[in-house]
Amino acid sequence: MKRKLISEAVKKGKGRVLLKGWVYRRRLSKETAFILLRDASSVIQCVIKKSEVDTETWETANDVNIESSVEVVGKLKPDPRAPGGFELETEQLRFIHKGEPFPIAKDFSPEFLLDVRHLWLRSRKMNAILKIRSTVIGAIHEFFRSKGYYEFTPPIFTPTACEGGATLFEVNYFGNKIWLTQSWQLYAEAAIFSLEKIYDVAPTFRSEKSSTSRHLAEFWMAEMEAAFMDYKECSEVAKEEVKFILKRVLERNLEELKLLKRDLKRLEPSLKKKFPTITYTKALKLLKEKCNLNVKWGKDLRTIEEKKLMELFDTPVVVTHYPKEIMAFYKPVDTEDKEAPGPVAKCFDMIAPEGYGEIVGGSERETDIEELKKWLKRGGEKLENYEWYFDLRRYGSVQHSGYGLGVERLIAWICGLENIKDAIPFPRTVDRWRP
Ligand code: 4AD
Ligand code: MG
Repeated sequence: MKRKLISEAVKKGKGRVLLKGWVYRRRLSKETAFILLRDASSVIQCVIKKSEVDTETWETANDVNIESSVEVVGKLKPDPRAPGGFELETEQLRFIHKGEPFPIAKDFSPEFLLDVRHLWLRSRKMNAILKIRSTVIGAIHEFFRSKGYYEFTPPIFTPTACEGGATLFEVNYFGNKIWLTQSWQLYAEAAIFSLEKIYDVAPTFRSEKSSTSRHLAEFWMAEMEAAFMDYKECSEVAKEEVKFILKRVLERNLEELKLLKRDLKRLEPSLKKKFPTITYTKALKLLKEKCNLNVKWGKDLRTIEEKKLMELFDTPVVVTHYPKEIMAFYKPVDTEDKEAPGPVAKCFDMIAPEGYGEIVGGSERETDIEELKKWLKRGGEKLENYEWYFDLRRYGSVQHSGYGLGVERLIAWICGLENIKDAIPFPRTVDRWRP
């Protein structure tokens, strides 16, 4: 007999099947043993009656530790109380590997589960999140490819900073000091002169010294860059992308979202409604008038302020025109925002509902070399490191824009996770780099 996944067996709904997987739970009585079998697809209860099975099957059922690998032959029987609507009347149970006592048994504290992350990946919760993560990353590729974008792969070792020196991870590169990438952007800006519309999904590194529920030291960023595009059009692409990803997850992962106890009503508005766009200056006004929060113009929005602002919305919101002073060197000044009391940039962030914070950061890119030099100098950067970047403004310069989407931030919001660490298989933070 050919092995079936539990989900395939349940779909078939009748007859004898061979299943392979791991023992998720076990309950014993004198005459009957119940084994909850799990595989990648699902779980099913196997009922083993002493009077109806061979001695080896009964002994295996009595002897088995949680997470042992086993193969089971049995008949499917409808059971309305069972998770997939079926249980398995077991005929034969055999070890594939008899596991030692499984370490995850009593202690379910977050820190312990992170210590044994290599084993905790097997949990129903991590299984569900990892499936959603796979959908999200697949959807990003699908979205951009369907719109004619090329996948472009940037270097990870970089001699230049993109998002400022404070969060750079230094690498000893054959005796030279260089860094792990903070963003693909500077390289993407080179590549658009060849491919025009590009995207990627890749690991990104930031030495974030504070431990928060939203920051990882290694995370995945999905970025895009496009020639002949202004920041407004660019922010519309970001809205469309987030909607598209959410749609795919709601189509493919309802079971997983249910297992994670995600309240779908909180996600539905983001599928149906248009995401609003407001300026930073308007956001401060809203914070003052509706949330009783005073933010000094020129200061970046902190977590608490983003959270308060988002209590006014049930979909992600795009905030544009942040003060130029607090923005990265490559974001150009915009003179169109007449309400702003100081210089603002052609830039935008997308903020997620329910306190999940900034999920997208993007902008138009400065094309004036002197402006770039001015802001790089202010940031304490060595201009000679950026000579190659200035070249991009010397030979057929064009208006261009791009953004980066924080993959784990997005997953954390879609799944309703308490901590971003659960959105990535092996989280890296200031105090966590093992296993
Ligand atoms: O806003 P950021 O810093 O933008 C850039 O790096 C641009 N160069 C991207 C571009 O225009 N191509 O980062 C983009 C997104 C943030 O909005 C956030 O969602 C996520 O990356 N992010 C983090 N996610 C997890 N942990 C961290 N430490 C993160 N830092 C940023
Ligand atoms: Mg940002």
